[in-house]
Amino acid sequence: MSSNQLDTKAQAWSALFSEPMSELVKRYTASVFFDKRLANVDIRGSLAHAHMLQAQHIISADDLASINSGLAQIQTEIDAGEFNWQLDLEDVHLNIEARLTQLVGDAGKRLHTGRSRNDQVATDIRLWLRGEIDQLSELLAELQRSLLSVAKRHVDVIMPGFTHLQVAQPVSFGHHMLAYVEMFSRDAQRLADVRKRVNVLPLGAAALAGTSYPLNRDMVADLLGMEGVCQNSLDAVSDRDFAIEFTAAAAIIMVHTSRLSEELIVWMSQNFGFVRIADRFTTGSSIMPQKKNPDVPELARGKTGRVVGHLMGLITLMKGQPLAYNKDNQEDKEPLFDTVDTVRDTLRIFAEMMGGQLNPATGQREGGITVNAQAMEQAALRGYATATDLADYLVNKGLPFRDAHEVVAHAVKTAIAQDIDLSELSLSALQAFDARIEADVFECLSLRGSLNARQTTGGTAPSQVLLQIARHEKRLDG
Ligand code: ARG
Repeated sequence: MSSNQLDTKAQAWSALFSEPMSELVKRYTASVFFDKRLANVDIRGSLAHAHMLQAQHIISADDLASINSGLAQIQTEIDAGEFNWQLDLEDVHLNIEARLTQLVGDAGKRLHTGRSRNDQVATDIRLWLRGEIDQLSELLAELQRSLLSVAKRHVDVIMPGFTHLQVAQPVSFGHHMLAYVEMFSRDAQRLADVRKRVNVLPLGAAALAGTSYPLNRDMVADLLGMEGVCQNSLDAVSDRDFAIEFTAAAAIIMVHTSRLSEELIVWMSQNFGFVRIADRFTTGSSIMPQKKNPDVPELARGKTGRVVGHLMGLITLMKGQPLAYNKDNQEDKEPLFDTVDTVRDTLRIFAEMMGGQLNPATGQREGGITVNAQAMEQAALRGYATATDLADYLVNKGLPFRDAHEVVAHAVKTAIAQDIDLSELSLSALQAFDARIEADVFECLSLRGSLNARQTTGGTAPSQVLLQIARHEKRLDG
């Protein structure tokens, strides 16, 4: 391909093509306006490829020097926002290659020896995604630290735990926060696992079948910090399941933030009044002056749909593709980019919204959620949250659990009729339900007694919660 042909793709790819593309088709097939985001990794991949070509004596040392300086110049132009991206040159790869050839002549035309855009683009996405995974993993760790700080401050705050959104049993608010720490720690594990399959090198697969040049693929993998090379050329250029897997992990992260969002929204409503988030995460209403709306959690809940949608998009993209590379795969980028952007912003915002910002002067976080411990405790008292504790008390006195369950149901019915809590029934009133009840019953009917009784590993007793906090802190910060 002569350099002026590469410059003006409108004139077609080679002598083989007899008519130019229409503007519409050019726009339809081009990806440069989104895949230029891969420019840095494209250059990194090209530098490694060129280095190896020279080491294998496929190109000369002079050619390598020219390629290095040309790509450095291109990187500078891109960083300065001065690179002239051309729709006519379709994608990031052809744009950079054409500019390289313009800058250094024939050496630029030798860069593509033993390489195809098919293995090139697969390499670029993997390199890019690896970097993003590393950033997201750090953000997940930061969000966990933020939630841990909230948990730590509220180990002894009692809230109603819910099932079916009905008051069930009292739990520590710190314990509730730790449930999310568990979720986000599994998310981090998932990303670390996906990273292993992302970090493998396609280059050397060329268009689909490998290449006749004596490439050293392991050298390129080493230079790029990759764990190994893809072992089947057809698979190397066409596999995108690493992207699907990543997006699945990302969708789960969003689902977790969406669940937390939903809770915040419920807790912030006047009917609960459990927490407030800082004003900078809320907005007012243009008509109702009293309103402060939880826009940020609502948007996170909404954006979860977007990321789940991208997962559906990517997985459907692969369905029915014959081996090997097909242009369908160009459609992998926008969903992937948007997934990363959405998850990144969401994680950053949630870390700050929940635990607040770290004040370097004090080492404390400031400006996170405000917890109304009294409202939480009141709500726990209103819902007969200690009914199970009364049943357990009777079991300890020798009653079979099913019978105890029935006795307590009667007691709750009576308390409801009088609009009082179980702990407000008199001892003699309680004894009317079962003669085995004694004065020590009031300890187990208290919220704190109920909490303290739940000492199983992972239970809500404050002593357990403290153990879990210590475990997480050690895990996150060594
Ligand atoms: N822009 C293309 C993509 O994103 C690069 C690979 C194109 N290869 C090809 N044979 N048309 O997938």
